[in-house]
Amino acid sequence: MKKLIKQGFELTNDNLLLQETLFHTANGYLGVRGNFEEGYPQGFSSSRGQYINGFYDIAEMKQAEQLYGFVNKKEVMLNVADTQSLMIEIGGEAVSLFENATDIYRELDMEKGTALRQFTWHNQAGQSFQIAFKRMASFVMLPLFTIELTITSNEFSGEVKITSKHNGEVTNFADPNDPRVAAESEHYLRVVGNQVDEAQGISKITAKTQVSDLAAETIVFHESKLPLTELVATEVENTFIYRGEISPKQPLSFTKFSLFLDSRRYDLAKASEELIAEVKSAGLSDLYQKQAAYLTDFWQNAVAEVSGDQLLNESLDYSLYSLLQSAGKDGISNIAAKGLSGEGYEGHYFWDTEIYMMPFFTLTNPQIAQKLIHYRYSILDKARENARILGHQTGALYPWRTIAGAESSGYFPSGTAQYHINSDIAYAIIQYYLATGDLQLIADYGGEVIFETARVWLEVGHFTEEHFVINAVTGPDEYTCVVNNNFYTNISAKYHLEWAGKFYQVLTEAGLAEVIGKIGLTSAEIAEWQRAAAAMYLPFSKELQIHEQDDSFLAKPVMEFKNLPAEKFPLLLHYHPLYLYRHQVTKQADLVLAYFLYENQFEEAAIKRGYDYYEPLTTHDSSLSSCIFSIVANQFGDSEKAYNYFDESSKIDITNSHKNTKDGIHAANMGGTYLGLVFGFGGLRLTESGISLRPQLPKNWDKMTFSFHYHGSQFLAEITEATINLTLVAGAAQSVMINGENYLVEKKQSLNEVLK
Ligand code: BGC
Repeated sequence: MKKLIKQGFELTNDNLLLQETLFHTANGYLGVRGNFEEGYPQGFSSSRGQYINGFYDIAEMKQAEQLYGFVNKKEVMLNVADTQSLMIEIGGEAVSLFENATDIYRELDMEKGTALRQFTWHNQAGQSFQIAFKRMASFVMLPLFTIELTITSNEFSGEVKITSKHNGEVTNFADPNDPRVAAESEHYLRVVGNQVDEAQGISKITAKTQVSDLAAETIVFHESKLPLTELVATEVENTFIYRGEISPKQPLSFTKFSLFLDSRRYDLAKASEELIAEVKSAGLSDLYQKQAAYLTDFWQNAVAEVSGDQLLNESLDYSLYSLLQSAGKDGISNIAAKGLSGEGYEGHYFWDTEIYMMPFFTLTNPQIAQKLIHYRYSILDKARENARILGHQTGALYPWRTIAGAESSGYFPSGTAQYHINSDIAYAIIQYYLATGDLQLIADYGGEVIFETARVWLEVGHFTEEHFVINAVTGPDEYTCVVNNNFYTNISAKYHLEWAGKFYQVLTEAGLAEVIGKIGLTSAEIAEWQRAAAAMYLPFSKELQIHEQDDSFLAKPVMEFKNLPAEKFPLLLHYHPLYLYRHQVTKQADLVLAYFLYENQFEEAAIKRGYDYYEPLTTHDSSLSSCIFSIVANQFGDSEKAYNYFDESSKIDITNSHKNTKDGIHAANMGGTYLGLVFGFGGLRLTESGISLRPQLPKNWDKMTFSFHYHGSQFLAEITEATINLTLVAGAAQSVMINGENYLVEKKQSLNEVLK
């Protein structure tokens, strides 16, 4: 049973905002926050939102001092029409969860793909009613969002009135005091058309963006035994009123269907009629069945369980389900830092996708991984333009944060300066290739991304007498900005350049080298890349015998933050950036992340020394941190430390431990939770020598189980303290390396390896 359940919770504003995020319903194309259909009473602030992935407008981003190349416009995800409202009156009394309600219960059913909110409501005469709202964002018909309301009267007979609204006038959420959300609330979308078909009870509102020249059409219609008795249409909002009788023990069902269409994917003139007809002919129960069937398939491919920790399993399920809800699957959208659950980071895509979230898709659903790679290809021209703005003559530099490809990061030191995004994208494509063997994708578009991004390294770095160095960039740690030779950046660039050379050769040998001609790549250029990779400078302190985060990091005073009160965190909200930059203090895994991704380049003892040095300097103010510390602790065999970090990171949203889940889920951390289980405790690695496992079960678990795909075959790994059982679930026999030895896992056979 995969469910997230909340019951008996207090109706405080903080709790409700948090639940709006946790109970959001999304399908990678559209997302709707878990707002109450009937709204909240005065004094409650809600962040009411419904979003379309990749649907954006362009907003001004004023720079006080507009230096050359500074970004002064940003892409922002939009809050589109509100189709959530449903108000109920029974016998003339308004039904509210805030008055005379008991047995309040919410559940997200991750096997059925629905979110339920139900309660018992008591009228003034003391009669009771069961009220249930069930929501679904359909995975099989992406523009469709449904709300099924069921009212059951226990004793009362009489009038029921349901008011349903479709509101086209919405604004975006803002908080001027938090840099992680928009500072100003904007009214981006303007309603340009409102059509009501009274006979069919259909409402269609079309709205246009101000600058990006995109349009969204939202359509609402209902299914109910109650007759429509009144319809009020203004320029921007339509209100439908249904009235009828209810009698005891006769559940009354009312369904509101909403379709969200945007002009990036749909022909708005045609699509809606076809979709309305399709929904009507399918009917709700058929749509529910298809949703459940889709999810049966998803979970069969994405097994990830441990025995003996219910909250952890709930978190694992919630993480994987959220990743599915968040991922764009059409090749022109991606995974926003908050998925489609809220407006934190304004719907932007970051390196979060490639380093934290893609591995989950690569190993469980490579088709989605393909689409995520295709998205990067779809904005390659924008990345080329971005490189020119930064002064590079060749190649492409991906924007640090974006939706449709334009750099939308306003603060370049912890934004655009993070050039490592180029090699992070390359890394994810290489991992995809190692997991699937899909050279065709490299030939079709993955290779072009890898080559074009590789080109920039030769421009941003230069050769000294001894080395190739990269100056004035920022690594993953956003508390240390614009430095020379950030270790993570340099080692990732080295790997990127080496692989670009390998792909050049492999594609040429396979006769798939069209891309090489297309972008004018020469063998001389490849030779230069290999020379830079071989000479790449990787800073190391002889004195401390540890790798240096960058050229100057170890020379700075250590920031003593351990004794600071909890209110001082995250430090970014309480200290000027320059103060942080001048100290040895990190926001997140930086060098430690390099220890995980480029593990083969290090000796275990060196990893341990570096980890011990950097761990006390790390605040984990970013949710992208603890999961990596967990994985690396496993690399040097400290499974207790690994467990503690994993436990903390896997529950961030479910326990709201970072206190900002209200703005949206921490999607990268959810991918990090998967990484922590499968790459951390499972020890899974994808390298040129194949796929390997080196499991280490923490003492708190009796067993862990996970599935993965490799070269078209699917496997199930079941690991206990003493045994590893690997089953070929589907596909051809493959060889898998376990604890350093190769085993051929053949059809339907189980490999039971007793741990030595
Ligand atoms: C982290 C970045 C991350 C971004 C979006 C920031 O707090 O420092 O590494 O990409 O959040 O999740």
